[in-house]
Amino acid sequence: MIRSVVRGFGASLPKRVMTNSEMEKKVDTSDEWIVQRTGIRQRYLAGEGETTASLGEAAARAALERAKLTPADIDLIILATSTPDNTFPATAVNIQNRLGMHHGAAFDVQAVCSGFIFAVTTADAYIRGGIAKRVLVIGAETFSRILDWNDRTTCVLFGDGAGAIVLEAQEGEGTTADRGVLTTQLRSDGAHKEKLYVDGGPSSTGTVGHLRMEGREVFKHAVGMITDVIEAAFEATGTTADDIDWLVPHQANRRIIDGSAKKLGIPPEKVVVTVDIHGNTSAASIPLALNAAASDGRIKQGDLVLLEAMGGGFTWGSVLLRW
Ligand code: UT7
Repeated sequence: MIRSVVRGFGASLPKRVMTNSEMEKKVDTSDEWIVQRTGIRQRYLAGEGETTASLGEAAARAALERAKLTPADIDLIILATSTPDNTFPATAVNIQNRLGMHHGAAFDVQAVCSGFIFAVTTADAYIRGGIAKRVLVIGAETFSRILDWNDRTTCVLFGDGAGAIVLEAQEGEGTTADRGVLTTQLRSDGAHKEKLYVDGGPSSTGTVGHLRMEGREVFKHAVGMITDVIEAAFEATGTTADDIDWLVPHQANRRIIDGSAKKLGIPPEKVVVTVDIHGNTSAASIPLALNAAASDGRIKQGDLVLLEAMGGGFTWGSVLLRW
C-alpha cells in the first residue's frame, strides 16, 4: 500500500516581531487581555518585500534541504493560502517559478485556517492515486495585509509566516504501524460563512477587503468541530487518544487548544503550542508548529502525530500520520 511519508519540513517567518505592548499603542487593548483571552504574546508581520510567495518559497527551500532533495525531485506543489500575492495566477505557481521549477504542476487550495489539512489531504490523494510521487505541501499567509488595523477584536489575533513539508510515496504494509498519512478527515459547512470572512473579493466588490469575525460564534463551535474530526480519525484507524504522541493543532487560541485536548483526554505535555509566539497564522500555523517541534527533537521518527484545524467557512479537519 502506498503511503505519503513526511520526508522533510521547514518554515519561514518575517523579520519583524510585534509584541502585545506595541499593539497597545495601535488599538485600545492590553497585553493582559490578549494573553488571558488568547495566549498570544507576539506575532510576526511581513515587511516590505515579504509576501506569501517569498515566505512560502523560503519554507519550501528549508523543507527541501531537510529532505536532501532539490526542486527537480518534486512533481507537485500544493499551497494552502487565503492571502495570495495576486488574485491569479495561483501563488503556488509563483513559488514554483521562484524555485526554478518548470516541470510538474502547482496549485493553491483555499480553506482558510484549515487550509493545511485540506492541502495534505489533497497531496495524500494524489500520491495514493499514483498521480504524484513527491509533493511539496506549503501553508503560507500574510494575514496582516487583510486585517482592519482599527478593529481591536481581530487585529490582535493574527500573524504572518509559512511552513512546508515534503510528502513522498513509500510502500507501507497497510497497518497503523506504517509511516506516513494514516487517515484524513475533511468537513465544511457554508451555513457559517458569515461568521468569519473577508468583506471583499474580485467577483463581489472588486476589492481585496478586510477580515471580519464574530469571535464568540467561532469559539462556540470550535471545540465540538475539532472533537468530531479527531474522533472520526480514531474510528477510521482503530486508535485512541492514548496512542497519540503529539497533538499539533491549528494555533488560533490557547483556550480552544486546551479545551479540545482536555475533552479528548490528551495531556498538555503532548500538545505542541506556538500560538504564544506566532499568533494565528491561518494555514501556516500547523506546519510552523510541526517545524518547531520536529526541529527541537520533540517529534521523532515513528511518532504518531495528530493534526487538526477549524476555521472560516466553516471548514474543519484532521490528519493522523506516523512521522
Ligand atoms: O483561526 C480561525 C478560527 N478563529 C478562532 O478560533 C477565533 C475564535 N474566537 C476567539 O478566539 C475568541 O472569541 C476571541 C479571542 C476572538 C475573543 O475572546 P472572547 O472571550 O470570546 O471575547 P468577546 O468577543 O466575548 O469579548 C469580550 C470583551 C468585549 O467587551 P464587553 O462587550 O464585554 O464590554 C470586547 O469588546 O472584550 C472586548 N474586547 C477587547 N478588549 C481588549 C474585544 N477585543 C478586545 C481587545 N482588547 N483586543
